[in-house]
Amino acid sequence: MTNFFDQLPEPAKQSKLQFLKHVYRGFRPIVNKKFTVESYPDLTNKICIITGMNTGIGYEVVDILLSKNCTVYGIVRTESKGKAAKETLLAKNKDTKGALSIIAGCDLSDFNSVKQTGLKIQELLKGKEVDFVIHNAGLMSNFNDRSNADGIELMFATNVMGPQLLQAYIDPLFLTEKKSENDLKRIIWLSSLAHMAGPSPYGFNQKDPKYLDVKSRPHSSTLYGQSKASSILQAKAYGIRHQTDEKYGIQSVSVFPGILTTELARDYPGFVQKFWNLAFYAPKFGAYSELYGCFYPDLKTGDYVIPFGAVDTPRQDINSALENGVCLKFWDYVQEEIKDYLPKN
Ligand SMILES: NC(=O)c1ccc[n+]([C@@H]2O[C@H](COP(=O)([O-])OP(=O)(O)OC[C@H]3O[C@@H](n4cnc5c(N)ncnc54)[C@H](OP(=O)(O)O)[C@@H]3O)[C@@H](O)[C@H]2O)c1
Repeated sequence: MTNFFDQLPEPAKQSKLQFLKHVYRGFRPIVNKKFTVESYPDLTNKICIITGMNTGIGYEVVDILLSKNCTVYGIVRTESKGKAAKETLLAKNKDTKGALSIIAGCDLSDFNSVKQTGLKIQELLKGKEVDFVIHNAGLMSNFNDRSNADGIELMFATNVMGPQLLQAYIDPLFLTEKKSENDLKRIIWLSSLAHMAGPSPYGFNQKDPKYLDVKSRPHSSTLYGQSKASSILQAKAYGIRHQTDEKYGIQSVSVFPGILTTELARDYPGFVQKFWNLAFYAPKFGAYSELYGCFYPDLKTGDYVIPFGAVDTPRQDINSALENGVCLKFWDYVQEEIKDYLPKN
């Protein structure tokens, strides 16, 4: 039986030295002191769509975006959490010339709910143009046996398939000409140092990235790693498939925000969470990484941003997927898997 990913080209060899450098930099990131919040442009009349902003890094990103007068649409799963975040964020940013609207009910692992959210976004933003999209929401599960209603491994459904589907609904509002030559338009796909733990080669399981066979699933860290390696492939592939640079002046980049004391480790044992909170960095530092991805002028499509504001090369075999067409094959695979939910036109 042939497989979608049969006969992929030979990837570059992985390097232990690169692995050690990445881990060191992940644990001991450098704060970019040259490109700071003060360097970001004023965002009056600019529109940003961001997922998972009710807590963690997303919340801090929106805090900064509002302080820069951005009009933000926050896509969240739980309405009450979205409303609570909105209230505190607007109280903190009383003088903003921007705005914050919450679109709730988006469970990224449930493709029907993603489709309904996509339609809602299209209706609410009709006639508007989106400048920034941040696929921030994500799940790092401690369990390898969790699946969505279709039996798809939960982190692959949530972190990879859901965002690619949601983006298809945002595209008509985003793939438009820039308002002026100097404007920035960016799309951010959240990755992680954990991409290093994705399956070899290329970061995803070429037999079945959805891991439908629960018994064959590896450790949850490999599954999370796969989902975060996928974001690196998606960033480059989205740019190529839509010719974002050439046609729209849009750069599509992946971002490892840093290791941060958010709710991400929520389903890990208490002692892991305690260690995590003692050892790592405040969520606002993750916002600096994401916003470096949005605002640093000299980024190109496919760049992999590392904390807290720099560019590096991802794991070498995954990096070769960005050059030899494998990222496009991966994108097309996901597209095929979500085809029943994609917009009709
Ligand atoms: N924190 C880190 O150390 C770190 C490191 C590397 C990468 N990242 C990445 O950074 C991003 C933000 O994470 P964070 O650290 O801010 O984590 P967080 O505090 O746990 O926030 C995650 C957000 O994603 C949302 N979310 C989770 N599953 C969802 C689903 N099925 N549908 C819709 N929304 C969902 C959560 O909504 P609810 O509140 O409703 O659950 C929450 O708003 C993630 O993509 C994560 O993988 C984080």
